[in-house]
Amino acid sequence: MSQTPRRRVAVVGATGVAGQQFLVSLAAHPWFEVTALAASARSAGRTYREAITEASGQQRWSCEEPLPAEFAGRPVIDAASFDASSVDLVFSAVESDAARELEARFAPHVPVVSTSSAFRYEDDVPIVVPGVNHEHAALVKRQQRERGWKGYVVPIPNCTTTGLVVALAPLARHFGVRSVIMTSMQALSGAGRSPGVSSLDILDNVIPYIPKEEEKVQTETAKILGSLEGDRITPLDLPVSAHCNRVNVRDGHTECVSAGLGRAASPEEVCEVLAGFGRDFVDLGLPSCPPELISVTDDPYRPQPRIDRSLHDGMTTVVGRVRREPVLPNGVKLVLLSHNTKLGAAKGACLVAEYLVHRGLA
Ligand SMILES: NC(=O)c1ccc[n+]([C@@H]2O[C@H](COP(=O)([O-])OP(=O)(O)OC[C@H]3O[C@@H](n4cnc5c(N)ncnc54)[C@H](OP(=O)(O)O)[C@@H]3O)[C@@H](O)[C@H]2O)c1
Repeated sequence: MSQTPRRRVAVVGATGVAGQQFLVSLAAHPWFEVTALAASARSAGRTYREAITEASGQQRWSCEEPLPAEFAGRPVIDAASFDASSVDLVFSAVESDAARELEARFAPHVPVVSTSSAFRYEDDVPIVVPGVNHEHAALVKRQQRERGWKGYVVPIPNCTTTGLVVALAPLARHFGVRSVIMTSMQALSGAGRSPGVSSLDILDNVIPYIPKEEEKVQTETAKILGSLEGDRITPLDLPVSAHCNRVNVRDGHTECVSAGLGRAASPEEVCEVLAGFGRDFVDLGLPSCPPELISVTDDPYRPQPRIDRSLHDGMTTVVGRVRREPVLPNGVKLVLLSHNTKLGAAKGACLVAEYLVHRGLA
């Protein structure tokens, strides 16, 4: 790949679960240089290390990797007064209420790649998943034209939607998908830290409700698998029924998926199509891209979050237990595992930004 000029980037929400993962993904990144760290007024005015340290002295660093030394002493600034024109691109990792206001303030100046849901459902906003629907990124031109913005907002999906669309996209392309039933077992880190899930609530337990999650999965899946025609995304006509559960796992969302296909396909055919998915995208050679988008396992006891979530640094969706689904017409069922804070948040957003650079959109 030809030399890409380095871009100055900001991480907004840098102190949170997703924000911390951004720092890990961006340390020593070949194209992006973090020149600003921002969070709420609570953290502003402190060094990064101070901002993630409780009054008790406990450090709220939640990544497996250590805090990259280059960020520890950096100042954290108040996102509310951050001047986005001082950077080339913003990574946003804040809750949606704050994101709605902040991203609308940044996007008139620079591209914003966001992990939040604030703009996901707007007509002129693509939800981009690398390898699945990256060509939807072209919609940012409409966003810029109609809103008069120099930049734009490109959100990634909810972290539960991510694994689901990675597995469904090859099936939709090769066989068609008519209906989907998905039951998730979602990791604790997906709930973030403010307030997150209390240990007393989750220990020895499963919580069968995650507010707004099922609706997000249903709406986002149809939009992502939809087609971009001209300046408009037509969502795929696909009923999706989601049951979302919180389980006592640190990282990695497991999803049991039953899908009715457009035509009959054997489990072997399905495995072949899944394993071959996304080679063209991988061949772009983007820095955060894994060597395979889907890894198919024939071990009937896999995928398991503790064992499989870190494959290719959490950027590969692991699929197993592919078998016939007798209840749905042309049915197939499988289990998938997707790393919610890597592919489903920070490193996935970095890959989206790399694609935007590659396309000349950032
Ligand atoms: N966790 C995941 O696996 C995951 C995956 C995909 C998407 N997401 C999305 O990513 C976003 C962040 O999630 P998270 O899990 O990282 O949450 P989190 O751990 O609670 O972190 C929230 C971050 O937002 C900052 N913040 C809160 N209010 C703010 C405000 N008014 N202005 C500026 N910054 C503010 C916090 O700063 P302070 O430390 O100063 O309070 C912190 O840096 C959410 O939209 C979430 O849905 C998360």
